[in-house]
Amino acid sequence: MLLAMTDFLATTRAAYDTVAADYARDIPERYHSSPLAHAMIPVFAELVTAGGGGPVADVGCGPGHVTAHLSTLGVTAFGVDVSPEMIALARAAHPDLRFEVGTMNALTAADATLAGVVANYSIIHTPPEALPATFAEFHRVLAPGGHLLLGFRAYDDATRLGELFDHSVTPAHRYSPDRIAALLGEVGLTEVARLTIAPGEDAKRGFPQAYLIARRPIEVPDDHVSAR
Ligand SMILES: C[S@@+](CC[C@H](N)C(=O)[O-])C[C@H]1O[C@@H](n2cnc3c(N)ncnc32)[C@H](O)[C@@H]1O
Repeated sequence: MLLAMTDFLATTRAAYDTVAADYARDIPERYHSSPLAHAMIPVFAELVTAGGGGPVADVGCGPGHVTAHLSTLGVTAFGVDVSPEMIALARAAHPDLRFEVGTMNALTAADATLAGVVANYSIIHTPPEALPATFAEFHRVLAPGGHLLLGFRAYDDATRLGELFDHSVTPAHRYSPDRIAALLGEVGLTEVARLTIAPGEDAKRGFPQAYLIARRPIEVPDDHVSAR
């Protein structure tokens, strides 16, 4: 499902264009130096490779460090970000990789063509009402058997989807992993695994963090008869 350039996208783009250079200086180093920050990326890369490989979109890629990490792990990764400044920095840092300006809410990939989608701390700027359509878009582009990895600040009360928090760049939400897994299920993506990082590891806000892997199931025809 396609969304027009809505207010939250325009706000996010302007905010990240402003901070892009500072972000690119600090965050890739933090990502690489923290074992928990990149723990799920090799697991995700192995799942993609074991499934036969194929293109993987790193959506909301920022300066491209996760895209580049995936590439070093043998994954054919490309980056997409709503911020043209972020994309310019990603291209400068990783000239051998493909980066496009675009939104995760309306990807240019054709139906069922991607082996994976990664959204590392980028759905946090998508408001709750736009999540179902965004997840439906991930399902649309994933090939059967393809994997999704979401990383996000977590909300620990599953009676609510989440809450706004005081993000330093632009309005952001932290979300309940259980509720996110349920929304993924509603669009046909099945949870495979999750990693939850304890609140005490977040010195600034004391929020838990979640990394959730889901899969688009391989459809088995109704008339399939097991060989066993
Ligand atoms: C917190 S940064 C995360 C960057 C990178 N993924 C990382 O792990 O450091 C969020 C990034 O997502 C991008 N972004 C947020 N919402 C987006 C959307 N709907 N479509 C595309 N990019 C988006 C922002 O421009 C920003 O570069």
